Amino acid sequence: MKVLFTVSECVPFVKSGGLADVAGALPKELRSLGTDIRVILPKYGGIPHGFLSRMKKKKEFFVSVGWRNQYCGIEELQHDGVTYYFVDNEYYFNRDRMYGYFDDGERFSFFTRAVLESMEALDFYPDVIHCHDWHTAMVPFLLKTEYQGRPGYEFIRSVFTIHNLQFQGIFPKGVMTDLLGIPDHYFHPEYLEFYGNINFMKGALLSSDFITTVSPTYKDEILTPYYGEKLHGVLRQRTNQLQGILNGIDDEVYNPEEGPIPFRSGNLEGKTKTKLGLQEKLNLEVNENIPMVSIISRLTVQKGLELVRGIFHEMIQENVQFVLLGTGDWEFEQFFREMESQYPDKVRVKIGFSEELAKEIYAASDLFLMPSKFEPCGLGQLIAMRYGVLPIVRETGGLNDTVQSYDEVSKAGNGFSFKNFNAHDMLYTYRRALDFYHHDRETWKHIVQTAMNKDYSWAQSAFKYNQLYADLVSRSESHVF
Ligand code: GLC
Repeated sequence: MKVLFTVSECVPFVKSGGLADVAGALPKELRSLGTDIRVILPKYGGIPHGFLSRMKKKKEFFVSVGWRNQYCGIEELQHDGVTYYFVDNEYYFNRDRMYGYFDDGERFSFFTRAVLESMEALDFYPDVIHCHDWHTAMVPFLLKTEYQGRPGYEFIRSVFTIHNLQFQGIFPKGVMTDLLGIPDHYFHPEYLEFYGNINFMKGALLSSDFITTVSPTYKDEILTPYYGEKLHGVLRQRTNQLQGILNGIDDEVYNPEEGPIPFRSGNLEGKTKTKLGLQEKLNLEVNENIPMVSIISRLTVQKGLELVRGIFHEMIQENVQFVLLGTGDWEFEQFFREMESQYPDKVRVKIGFSEELAKEIYAASDLFLMPSKFEPCGLGQLIAMRYGVLPIVRETGGLNDTVQSYDEVSKAGNGFSFKNFNAHDMLYTYRRALDFYHHDRETWKHIVQTAMNKDYSWAQSAFKYNQLYADLVSRSESHVF
């Protein structure tokens, strides 16, 4: 089985969020199942030099972007047994950031055609092209409406994965007609038109042979107006070709047994040492009996931080230490900075991101707060549990599918959760968790063991993706829209 992964970011090359973690981990797992998996992504300026210097130019050709022809280089890199192709065009991708430019519509229109043209140039026609999020969403659309008529492309099946329905790639009509070269009649509500503009994500939802999202609960949620981001109607037409497949984490990257001070579920001494070390480093009281509560997150509305803001003063009255790492919306960054200066003995806030510090905080913490408003899957809670940190989450999306709130009667559960998007429900849950920590250490340890012993790896999900690919390839008919 030949699969081409098309994605806009990928660990260890470039990352802005969980999408990159998935693109970094899933191909490796699929490869171990015998799939010929290759990954194609833009060659951004920010890719570390060590990788850039190892890339080898495979092909050069021109890609039409409307009436212009743009240079496109395809560079290859082998890494961890997976083949990566980087789409090279200095003008579009050699910039400081990955996204957020006035011409993102043009940049990803170019990328779309570059991906499709690269198949012929490389003579690599995959059985399945697997696209992720809006940046790559026009690939299935152009495949269906244009490329499938060309030799080599006829039998390629497409899978589109929604990692976050909130970002859809909405642009003026000209992006469709002048840049992607798509005929005018597709500017229609049944196709790409979306409230007066065009919508890349909609294009994929209509045209891909199969749609997946990153958890079963999110799959159900996005069919409703509250979570559907105005696309629930389109998604409802595709319920027979829609599946939620839970993300995993790379258990080689996130492995408490391989950290600077290793530990495992049977022996948590190393975890305690890490905590004492971090307390010292952060200039907090060094005391293993003060629970450390952490947030490691993009600081955005999605992550439910307004709940934390709403009751922060109450939360911090408890005997706790609070550590935050992340960047994002200015209003949240500013709020947490203020909290740090108001509660200097208890609060530490690091605005920024460092993989190393993140791992140290996971290893040291006791509780992990993730009260998301919506959460397609969420990786933080999985990493937390692997490091013996009990998550406090809202029951939405992947949080609902991976965290089971501790139940005193059955003694089952690997964390704590609450249902409504309500700050006081969260506060109640937080106090409940702390109660176990301070007054029932046996139960606390039991929940930590349960959390650490569960399998959060990619193995099962990779198997499901592989099955899905095989299924699609074996069908004689592809999706008609
Ligand atoms: C997005 C979602 C997150 C998910 C990740 C990877 O970042 O917000 O919930 O875990 O994609 O699929």
